[in-house]
Amino acid sequence: MFILYYLKKIYMKHYTGIINELLEKRYSPLSFDQKAVEEVKIMRLFEAARWAPSSRNEQPWRFIYATRNNKEAFQNMFDCLFEGNKIWAKNVPLLILSVAKSVSSFNGKPNPYALHDTGMAVGNMLVQATDMGLVVHQMGGYDKEMARKNLCIPEEYEPVAMIAVGYLGKTDDLPEDLKKREKAERKRMQLDEITFKKSWKGV
Ligand SMILES: Cc1cc2nc3c(=O)[nH]c(=O)nc-3n(C[C@H](O)[C@H](O)[C@H](O)COP(=O)(O)O)c2cc1C
Repeated sequence: MFILYYLKKIYMKHYTGIINELLEKRYSPLSFDQKAVEEVKIMRLFEAARWAPSSRNEQPWRFIYATRNNKEAFQNMFDCLFEGNKIWAKNVPLLILSVAKSVSSFNGKPNPYALHDTGMAVGNMLVQATDMGLVVHQMGGYDKEMARKNLCIPEEYEPVAMIAVGYLGKTDDLPEDLKKREKAERKRMQLDEITFKKSWKGV
């Protein structure tokens, strides 16, 4: 049993790190440059999101966004962030809020895939952003009720993730604790912890 366990670990290790380079390169940085994101790149992010698959092609994702140039609109979004996120997001030039249409357009019932599909659209966005030299840091740490109110989100839509987008900044500009966090090793569960061949019980 013990030997089998280690053999599986060695086998799974073989696949670690052999993935598309955009997926490998992407991470969620804490240091952002103040440089604005070009309008054409912003639109490409949304175009990438638009082509995500979705249950019954409902396309439940919506995106509210503001650039730092639009002072009032940007502040409306920034104000929603929890304090811990405001600290590192102070230079972020573009904020996007992903929103999911939680009610199905087909039958008016709750769409159980709304969050899943919205996350997939954001996944597309992440790959496109990385390909264009941008960095992205998503946040669940924001006040959803404030977002609903500040951004006039209708009841049948659910605010999902606040998404900071921009160019990578200098780590040196971060406070000490965040510098440490930025440099910390990125960890993931092992393949054998998240995959189950044949059934939950394994082989
Ligand atoms: C839905 C979601 C919510 C998140 N919320 C926050 C957050 O509020 N603050 C934060 O600093 N990071 C947040 N993160 C970033 C995660 O901590 C990060 O993705 C995770 O640690 C893995 O690191 P990586 O993206 O660099 O691979 C969030 C990520 C996701 C997908």
